[in-house]
Amino acid sequence: MKAISIGLLGLGTVGSGVVQIIENHQDKLMHQIGCPVMIKKILVKDENKERTVHIERELLTTNPDDILESPEIDIVIEVMGGVEETKNYLLKALQNRKHIVTANKDLMAVYGSELLSVATENGCDLFYEASVAGGIPILRGLVDGLASDRITKMMGIVNGTTNYILTKMSKQGSRYEDVLKEAQELGYAEADPTSDVGGWDAARKMAILATLGFSMNIDLDDVKVKGITEISEEDLSYSKKLGYTMKLIGIASRLENKVEVSVQPTLLPESHPLASVNDEYNAVYVYGEAVGETMFYGPGAGSLPTATAVVSDLVGVMKNMRLGVNGRSAVSPQFEKSLKQPGE
Ligand code: NAP
Ligand code: HSE
Repeated sequence: MKAISIGLLGLGTVGSGVVQIIENHQDKLMHQIGCPVMIKKILVKDENKERTVHIERELLTTNPDDILESPEIDIVIEVMGGVEETKNYLLKALQNRKHIVTANKDLMAVYGSELLSVATENGCDLFYEASVAGGIPILRGLVDGLASDRITKMMGIVNGTTNYILTKMSKQGSRYEDVLKEAQELGYAEADPTSDVGGWDAARKMAILATLGFSMNIDLDDVKVKGITEISEEDLSYSKKLGYTMKLIGIASRLENKVEVSVQPTLLPESHPLASVNDEYNAVYVYGEAVGETMFYGPGAGSLPTATAVVSDLVGVMKNMRLGVNGRSAVSPQFEKSLKQPGE
């Protein structure tokens, strides 16, 4: 029984969680796919950095080709972040017929279309469940669970960092700068948190959700975005006195022949179900014509929750490998054509 060999790009918050889940859930993985899973190589920036998980030193490398060009590696897990360089790494991996799992919404929202086409051409899977709402299986929920329905609206909290910041500022009176720092320390924020607090991280996730949910082309440039950087402690305290809670809300609506997607700070009455989604938690309401109202809720960021989505995608890829098929993924085929590059 040949083991499946993994190359990991990145060993930060999410990568460390992936290592832990693969180690700790080896029996479950064995049961699901019928063979052991081995991490063969891990790409990092700094081999000497102290790690939160125990890793044999010889597993680490700073040379991406040790993974991308290695004939021993079957599947590449990309949890390093970044866009241009990372895209080139993934293209190389696909050209070398390696399947890919990624948690990278920045990359998928811009180059998803191109990468998925290359994956198809090379008979590879490219799964990206963890790119939206961390541990919540929202992409599978939309594409598989609600496959028979016509979705008309999605509304939710899809950024853990800003939800954590707003929760702490409003409930504990914490200062913005302090609580942003906490969110960084807890591993919720991006390496550069500008996209979190500026609303762009949520916008990319809403673009991916709307593309999959509405089966339509969604251009990131068409998403209206406003982040939380101008929200003051006073704004939050007044809102609270008036019985409202401030949340960064993404909305995607299907209108006649178009969709509208936006992300902005929104005052919700305290009785609104999204008002009680706190800390790093995310929640997405999905309205379907037949099913009516559904809600997906769970941890939207953090090491183990996000790694759960990554390793579940890994199981999906490995099941496909065993069956000798590919392309059965957390996404629908139309996504391959629908996520346009900026300016297209
Ligand atoms: P992170 O903690 O900053 O970790 C990044 C890792 O990648 C580090 O191990 C770093 O190496 C390595 N790395 C970065 N750039 C590299 C380069 N150019 N060459 C070699 N290695 C490089 O990031 P993260 O929070 O785990 O996030 C990773 C990805 O998952 C991002 O796309 C993010 O958007 C996505 N994501 C994160 C979360 C979350 O809650 N954190 C949730 C969902 C999705 P060193 O360790 O040596 O510095
Ligand atoms: N920075 C992101 C967030 C990580 O805070 O939601 C999860 O995608």
